[in-house]
Amino acid sequence: DLHNAIMFSSLARPLGAASSIVNMRRITHPTVKQTLAGKASLPCVFTLQTNSSNQPPHLLWTRVGLPAGGQSTLREQIVNLVLQNFFFCAKGDVIRVNKAFSGRITLPGYAANPLNATMEISSLRTNDSGTYHCQVVMDNDYERDTVPLVVSGVVFHYQAPGARYALSFMDAQQACQEMSAQMATPAQLWASYYDGFASCAAGWLDDQTVRYSVQLSELGCYGHREHSAGVRNYGKKDPKELFDVYCFTKELDGEVFHTSVPGRLSLSSASDRCVSLGGQLATVGQLYLAWRSGLDSCAPGWLSDGSVRYPVMWPRPECGGSQTGVRTVTPNSATDNTTALYDAYCYRDCSLSILAIRI
Ligand SMILES: *[C@@H]1O[C@H](CO)[C@@H](O)[C@H](O)[C@H]1NC(C)=O
Ligand SMILES: *[C@@H]1O[C@H](CO)[C@@H](O)[C@H](O)[C@H]1NC(C)=O
Ligand SMILES: *[C@@H]1O[C@H](CO)[C@@H](O)[C@H](O)[C@H]1NC(C)=O
Ligand SMILES: *[C@@H]1O[C@H](CO)[C@@H](O)[C@H](O)[C@H]1NC(C)=O
Repeated sequence: DLHNAIMFSSLARPLGAASSIVNMRRITHPTVKQTLAGKASLPCVFTLQTNSSNQPPHLLWTRVGLPAGGQSTLREQIVNLVLQNFFFCAKGDVIRVNKAFSGRITLPGYAANPLNATMEISSLRTNDSGTYHCQVVMDNDYERDTVPLVVSGVVFHYQAPGARYALSFMDAQQACQEMSAQMATPAQLWASYYDGFASCAAGWLDDQTVRYSVQLSELGCYGHREHSAGVRNYGKKDPKELFDVYCFTKELDGEVFHTSVPGRLSLSSASDRCVSLGGQLATVGQLYLAWRSGLDSCAPGWLSDGSVRYPVMWPRPECGGSQTGVRTVTPNSATDNTTALYDAYCYRDCSLSILAIRI
């Protein structure tokens, strides 16, 4: 583990302990699971042998994660570096935080106990997921805790079958429920904006405001006059006004799979096929969650609301561009759902698939 060895020696040098024997202890914690926009607490409490030192410990948090965009190379990132010294305490510790984590990190137990490097990350983003290492150096002692973090849940844009901007606040709530989701909160929309999500459609959120996120100012979204990225807010709206909606879906209980037959399927034959395979047509929310956990297919397929979509985890030119995401061919059942032919995406409950095996 060369990278950490380097980190360690650069930390150890000021202590003048580089040539000494280091007592090392490693702990692996269970995976911390949290949802998008939530707050995760990554434990790191150490018990160094040395108590003769008047030098406070040096702390380093790093993260190894899959970078966004589906590249397969691992990248280690410095999250938070605390070079603490008793004399600096009053003036504030020297803390360096990677830009992606700025303003979102605290060490809530540290002030009361400098052996408590437990780190809290708030406003969680999907790409905060990864394996975190907490490293502590004090005199001849070195400890390293490992805490895996998984941030789950996806925000997606949804429009009514057949029409853009056709959902009242109540309709929007129901549409999300039918798609195995609930209305997204503003914090969830912001978190997915930081993950790279953008959509030019004004949609309801659960606080009855209407917003959309913009990544590039040159997108030229309607009503987008400010030339900056971020989440635009139309404010709180009359619940009878009509917009699209942003839904949030948390967890997949079963599996989503692609199915195809020679000559392809109409919407109703797609539905029949999923039933014959022990499931039903997947909802839009289920397809997003399956995409997030790795489902990748270039083949457009029917979903339960009569829309036609496909999940692209590993972007490639022949699969519709350079972005990872769920592609929408037709957003609704206004397509001729009796003659149009596609594949299908089915959803099968875990318990149902066990039953199917028994039969
Ligand atoms: C180290 O801690 C032990 C137990 O807490 C104590 O007995 C000992 O005196 C301490 N040594 C020093 C040098 O502070
Ligand atoms: C460390 O800090 C965390 C966060 O404040 C707290 O929940 C935990 O109880 C502390 N543990 C110890 C041993 O101080
Ligand atoms: C998450 O993704 C965004 C957009 O791609 C990027 O700006 C940010 O640095 C990433 N954060 C982390 C922790 O990788
Ligand atoms: C198929 O399309 C018709 C006409 O647009 C619509 O009334 C019907 O609800 C659709 N069926 C499904 C299953 O979406």
